[in-house]
Amino acid sequence: MNKPSDLPQAALAQVGVSRPHESAALHVSGEARYTDDIPEAQGTLHAALGLSPLAHGRLLGVDLELLRRQPGVVAVLTAADLPGENNCGPLVHDDPILADGELRYLGQPVFAVIATDRELARRACALAKQAIRAEPLPPILTAREAHAAGQYVVPPMHLTRGEPAAALASAPQRLEGEWSVGGQEQFYLEGQISYALPQEGQSLLLHCSTQHPSEMQQLVAHALGWSAHQVQVQCRRMGGGFGGKESQSALFACVAAVAAMRLGRPVKLRLDRDDDFLITGRRHGFDYRWQVGFDEQGHILAAEIELISNCGHSADLSAPVMARALCHFDNAYWLPHVAMHGFCARTNTQSNTAFRGFGGPQGALAIEMILDSVARRLGLDPLLVRQRNFYRSEGGRDVTPYGQQVEDNILEPLTQRLIAQSDYWQRRAAIQAFNATSPVLKKGLALTPLKFGISFNVVHLNQAGALVHIYTDGSVLVNHGGTEMGQGLNTKVAQVVAHELGVDLGRVRASATDTSKVANTSATAASTGADLNGKAAQDAARRIKTRLMPLAARLLGCTESELCFAGGRVAGGGREIGFAELVSKAYLERFQLWSEGFYATPGLHWDRSRLQGRPFYYYAYGAAVAEVLVDTLSGESRVLRADVLHDVGQSLNPALDIGQVEGAFVQGMGWLTMEELKWHPQTGLLLTHAPSTYKIPTANDMPLDFRVALFDAPNREDSIHRSKAVGEPPLLLPFSVLLAIKDAVAATGPVRWDPPLRAPATAEAVLRALLSRP
Ligand code: MTE
Ligand code: MOS
Repeated sequence: MNKPSDLPQAALAQVGVSRPHESAALHVSGEARYTDDIPEAQGTLHAALGLSPLAHGRLLGVDLELLRRQPGVVAVLTAADLPGENNCGPLVHDDPILADGELRYLGQPVFAVIATDRELARRACALAKQAIRAEPLPPILTAREAHAAGQYVVPPMHLTRGEPAAALASAPQRLEGEWSVGGQEQFYLEGQISYALPQEGQSLLLHCSTQHPSEMQQLVAHALGWSAHQVQVQCRRMGGGFGGKESQSALFACVAAVAAMRLGRPVKLRLDRDDDFLITGRRHGFDYRWQVGFDEQGHILAAEIELISNCGHSADLSAPVMARALCHFDNAYWLPHVAMHGFCARTNTQSNTAFRGFGGPQGALAIEMILDSVARRLGLDPLLVRQRNFYRSEGGRDVTPYGQQVEDNILEPLTQRLIAQSDYWQRRAAIQAFNATSPVLKKGLALTPLKFGISFNVVHLNQAGALVHIYTDGSVLVNHGGTEMGQGLNTKVAQVVAHELGVDLGRVRASATDTSKVANTSATAASTGADLNGKAAQDAARRIKTRLMPLAARLLGCTESELCFAGGRVAGGGREIGFAELVSKAYLERFQLWSEGFYATPGLHWDRSRLQGRPFYYYAYGAAVAEVLVDTLSGESRVLRADVLHDVGQSLNPALDIGQVEGAFVQGMGWLTMEELKWHPQTGLLLTHAPSTYKIPTANDMPLDFRVALFDAPNREDSIHRSKAVGEPPLLLPFSVLLAIKDAVAATGPVRWDPPLRAPATAEAVLRALLSRP
């Protein structure tokens, strides 16, 4: 291939290079338009929701007259006013939009007030306690209680390999325990919002902050009793989603849409932060009960575990979240005999949902805690026990409990490199020396690895579409089914298109996600955004390029195989032509300058009832070493240093990927060390429903010394430019922080002491663990 003359190699590649986020300048200048920034159409009304004051009860009625009398109120809607189906549940139809008959949790929307402005709508809704007539029923507020009562949102799931009971019985060493990890609020900076605008002839335009425009379209159509083609959903960007806007944007979309159609006026519903906390669900907290059998070297011989997730009042995505938890309990390790039992407990709380990792973190964390206990029992460094249990190709130790072979295993080389880069063993010795002479301040160190399966483990969701337009001036517009939530998906997809057409990234613009452009899209979730939409956009760009090639070859007097599209030019046979010139000539010759593209991930199969198959196209890997300092008088802890080596395959954009790794690390650290949800034990009121009581990490909580590196090796599978998904896997990296805190606590006690530290390891939890010292 002859590249255009005088072009350095670097100018040719549009992928594999760090490029700023496509909206970076808009983000910092404040110009980036979020749903609430869209100029309001004349006559816009504002909705707010009246919430159930009871965790459980029988709904007897709503005092509509009281609400209608309030200033500014235009209408009040209850379940009876919904023209279509009163359901916004994504999989199981068990999620009422507005309460009907039963009150299921404190905070459940019971009615909607539509008023001339948002404050007046909220003020009327504040009368919910007076307006709602209900008879209280006893609530179930914890997953353990629900499990004891056999109350589940979906039937229990079991995944077994080998003969775990027999292998446990014959193992030379055994341990058992109970443990739990809390939930986590997504805390997207932009709260849930929908803005519905009625259009001509029974149709609707909905601006919605959502990871799943197609599902919003469908659910809104059902709520209105309409067909999907009457609803158009648009989302230019979200101010964060983190899984919280995958299914749970639906309730607000449905209320805004129904109100708008009923009143024939635009209606906006934007939640206040407290209401967002009270209404929507979050990461599932998990309770575990486990048994493990192992040998003197720490090899796991058998494990049995019960995982109980707190699902809240409805199924939402709890079944696939549990399936992913079960498929990640193995994390990086070969478990020859294993039994896992997943219970999705129904409680009278918010319905828990997707959150970065989608159950994977809750599954993998369990085995990491178990391995740590095994190592402490044996008096071994936990790192050695981990490495001894890694998946290996020798001896068939490379098949997961769900039957997928781990073909792309890089755990050992990645871990070795991180051990070297982080001086793990030298620092282990230095920390021991420090702790020996420091009675109050104790240091801890831990290295944890991760393996995370990439693909939706519902096969049909692994598809995507894209639409690429080239205008006659050579500028390019790309649209795809994914949504932008800050992760940089639009930038990556634009890079792929720019690379394919050989134009500068500045010539390619990504436009708002829109159900009228690409139909039947999957949620932007499971970290698959760039994998799926990047491939679909590449397909679209290639189709146009293929059409342009005969013309370019004719104009340049060369063969098609000699052509090279790069640097905004097309070269061949020693001559070249500008891309824009080629495009305008193609237009005059009546070539189609736009195309759709499509992609479906190959090779996946999954038997949902047996939990067997190949649910994942490939695995992403990573590992982190954390060093912490714990004040044993106050229980406070601080990450002194974190070293990360993370596998993103051949990165599409290293700057964005490092941003994702750092963000996920700190977000996961928040989950495991400071974010704590508390419900009132009698009333079921979520007490931590604002930043005043719910503490998320800030810039000050970053590791003091934070060293993030990418393990740059191409994906073994034919993913987009051999990259790997990065959105969720690094959320598992800060397991190292939790275990380093545990290590520091253990340093206060006798050798082989296994401190009972729970997560989140808040100062209180650390003190409690310290107090149990023998
Ligand atoms: N990064 C930012 N800045 N904001 C987000 O909301 N969501 C995470 C992750 N990274 C999120 C994020 C989650 S939960 C997922 S599944 C992926 O991004 C989704 O995007 P991707 O598939 O394009 O990686
Ligand atoms: Mo991410 S939890 O899959 O939206």
